[in-house]
Amino acid sequence: MSDLTFADKLKEQTRTVHDSVDNLVMSVKPFDSKENYINFLKLQSVFHRIVDDIYKDTTLNQAINDLAQMARYDAVLADLADLGQAKYQFAEPLPKPTGNQAIGWLYCAEGSNIGAAFLFKDAKEKLGFDEKFAARHLDAHPDGRGKHWKAFREHLNNLNLDENAQNEAIAGAIDAFEFYKATLRQIFHQAQA
Ligand code: HEM
Repeated sequence: MSDLTFADKLKEQTRTVHDSVDNLVMSVKPFDSKENYINFLKLQSVFHRIVDDIYKDTTLNQAINDLAQMARYDAVLADLADLGQAKYQFAEPLPKPTGNQAIGWLYCAEGSNIGAAFLFKDAKEKLGFDEKFAARHLDAHPDGRGKHWKAFREHLNNLNLDENAQNEAIAGAIDAFEFYKATLRQIFHQAQA
C-alpha cells in the first residue's frame, strides 16, 4: 500500500466511482442527438466552471507548470456558443472546493481528458463535431493525451502531500465525481438514484 504514489492512490480509490460516472454518462446517450449533446455540454460547463478557479489558483500554478492553460471552461462555453447556446446558469449555488480537496477536484477534471478521447471520437463520428466546432473542450492536450497525463501525475506526486493531505484530496476527488453524477441527473431530468 505504501508503495503506491499519490497519483496511484487517486486512481485506485476513485476507480469504482469513475466507472459509475462512465456508465451514467453513456446511459443518457449524449451523442445520439444534438439536444442530448447540448445537455452534456451544460453539464460539462457546470463542472468546468467549478474547477476553473482551481486551474487558475496562483499557488497551484507555481507548483504545476502551465496549469492555468489547461482549464477548459472557456472551450466548453465556445462549444455551447457554436450550437447557439448562451452560457448555462445552474439553478443551485456551486461548490467551492479549497485546499487539498481542490486538488482532488483538479485530478478529476484533468483526468477526464483521458477518457475524452472516446467522447471526442463519438462526437466526431455521430454528430460531426470536432476541435474547431462544438467539441473543442474534448480535444487532446497538444502534447498528446497519454504523455500529458503522465506529466500531470508527476506534478501531483511532486506536491509532496502527507498522508492526511492525500486523503483529503482523495475525498475531494470522490466529491467531484459524485457532484458530476448528481448534476447529470438534474440536467438530464433523471430521478433515479
Ligand atoms: C462516458 C464517459 C467516460 C468514459 C468512457 C471514460 C473513460 C475513461 C478511460 C478509458 C480512462 C483511462 C483509464 C485507464 O487509464 O485505466 C479514463 C480515465 C479517467 N477519467 Fe474517465 N471516462 C468518462 C467520463 C469521465 C468523467 C465525466 C470524468 C470526471 C468527471 C472522468 C474522469 C477520469 C479520470 C480522473 C481519469 C484518470 C484515471 C487515472 O489514471 O488516474 N471520466 N476515463
